[in-house]
Amino acid sequence: MEASKLRINGARLRASLEEMAKIGATPAGGVQRLALSDEDRRARDLFVKWLKEIDLEVTVDEMGSIFGRRRGRSNDLPPVMSGSHVDSQPRGGRFDGILGVMGTLEVLRTLHENKVETERPLVIVDWTNEEGSRFAPAMVASGVWAGALDRDWVYARTDKDGKKQGEELARIGYKGSVPARKWPTYAYYEFHIEQGPMLERQKITIGAPKGILCLHWYDVYLEGEANQVGPTPMEGRHDALCAAAEMILAVNTLPDRMKGNMVATVGEIQNYPNSRNIIPDKVHFTVDIRSWDDAHALEAWEKLKRDFQQVASRRGTPIRIEETWRVAHAPFNEKLVQRVLDTADELGYSRLHMVSGAGHDASYMNQVCPTAMIFVPSIGGRSHVEVERTTWEDCEAGANVLLHCLLKTANEK
Ligand code: HGY
Ligand code: MN
Ligand code: MN
Repeated sequence: MEASKLRINGARLRASLEEMAKIGATPAGGVQRLALSDEDRRARDLFVKWLKEIDLEVTVDEMGSIFGRRRGRSNDLPPVMSGSHVDSQPRGGRFDGILGVMGTLEVLRTLHENKVETERPLVIVDWTNEEGSRFAPAMVASGVWAGALDRDWVYARTDKDGKKQGEELARIGYKGSVPARKWPTYAYYEFHIEQGPMLERQKITIGAPKGILCLHWYDVYLEGEANQVGPTPMEGRHDALCAAAEMILAVNTLPDRMKGNMVATVGEIQNYPNSRNIIPDKVHFTVDIRSWDDAHALEAWEKLKRDFQQVASRRGTPIRIEETWRVAHAPFNEKLVQRVLDTADELGYSRLHMVSGAGHDASYMNQVCPTAMIFVPSIGGRSHVEVERTTWEDCEAGANVLLHCLLKTANEK
């Protein structure tokens, strides 16, 4: 069949996504496949089985990232890579990450059954722990591979139960021997749901992000003074939770005060001893700041730290801050982004040039090779929730755009 006429098998893509959604399925129709959990392992085992069914050369690196390599005519040329992640948020959605992995797999299945050769090799990848929910920060495997994060620092990161990331990787049998270190890569594509409202609002099928916002993550620890809630007068309390409450509102008003295109969120909080009749004396909460302008995000953080210090000294709740993780904003390769837009046009899909507010492994891949992403709409603009949905037609459309972007790029000498 003439290459331009090739299309992926939408029913098979749907079947793969539905099969994966059974792993870690939650009662309300989402998934919980936390990084390095038993659910993550089961999904990885299934993914590896599927890779072997189409004769891919499968490798697992030290960070547990799974690669499937398909030979090219000029097999020594740097490959074109495409993939995403299999891990999910707690009570997450059935499309975030897994759509990019299954979409790439569907492309390779289509090439395999049509015996289509490409000039360059193609590599599919499942990046370990993209979400950064169980083990912070996010995108750690692509970050180590890209040389931006230190492997042993990542291994030592612990979850809420004190389990170490490196040990959990070994426990599930995916601590590979291949060094998690970048090799020459010609280009990287990542197919993903938009996770926001833009495409649906404008009734557009394909999004072509010009890049991804910077992501800056911080951890804040407050020390107060615990006491019995009854006899202790309000005056002179050192209530860590009240201090945190004021600081959390300062995070919420920060983008407005910074007058710029920015988002700032506190998503996670732990309160100790968390008993209704003890004044809290320890609080940990997280801060997530994102902007297209890295300097603007750093300036915002300096302002926020001053806000925090004022509250901590007024309330007598000493503060400790961890500047946990920063990944710079990622302006994608303009030629590849244009290729996504042109391919959508050729296939008859509406398309939109936009920005990604969500982080992706493409942020780090963009530091290694020309990178672009392909978005499809999220129904209701919802993601990281069990109601996360994308229509099967849009999944098929995005995978067809991915198919032809990969073909064009892998046939460049
Ligand atoms: O945080 C993010 O945007 C991604 O889900 N890791
Ligand atoms: Mn994702
Ligand atoms: Mn996500």
